[in-house]
Amino acid sequence: MANTWTDLLSIDDTFEGEVVRVDTVNKNLAIYNVGGNVFCTDNVCTHGNALLSDGFLEGHEIECPFHQGRFDVRDGRVTCEPATKAMKTYPIKVEEGRVFIDLTV
Ligand code: FES
Repeated sequence: MANTWTDLLSIDDTFEGEVVRVDTVNKNLAIYNVGGNVFCTDNVCTHGNALLSDGFLEGHEIECPFHQGRFDVRDGRVTCEPATKAMKTYPIKVEEGRVFIDLTV
């Protein structure tokens, strides 16, 4: 079976309670560190042309900087309007200090 994991960044480049932007060849991603657990969503808000990596992370919720829509970073679901469409999320694994993402989902 093909290896579907892409090496994204070092766990040391994520910070507890913060979101960072990571660009791959064709993806703009937001990486969240919540209590030492890492989550990943697309970075561009489903409601408009805002980057969630510029937003405010509180617990498992990311608040969009444009209209304060909110999403749960664990599953991408909307937790506060005006956003109505869920964010896409990606499987993550951490091995030997590196964060890997499965972009094939
Ligand atoms: S652009 Fe994100 S809530 Fe409107």
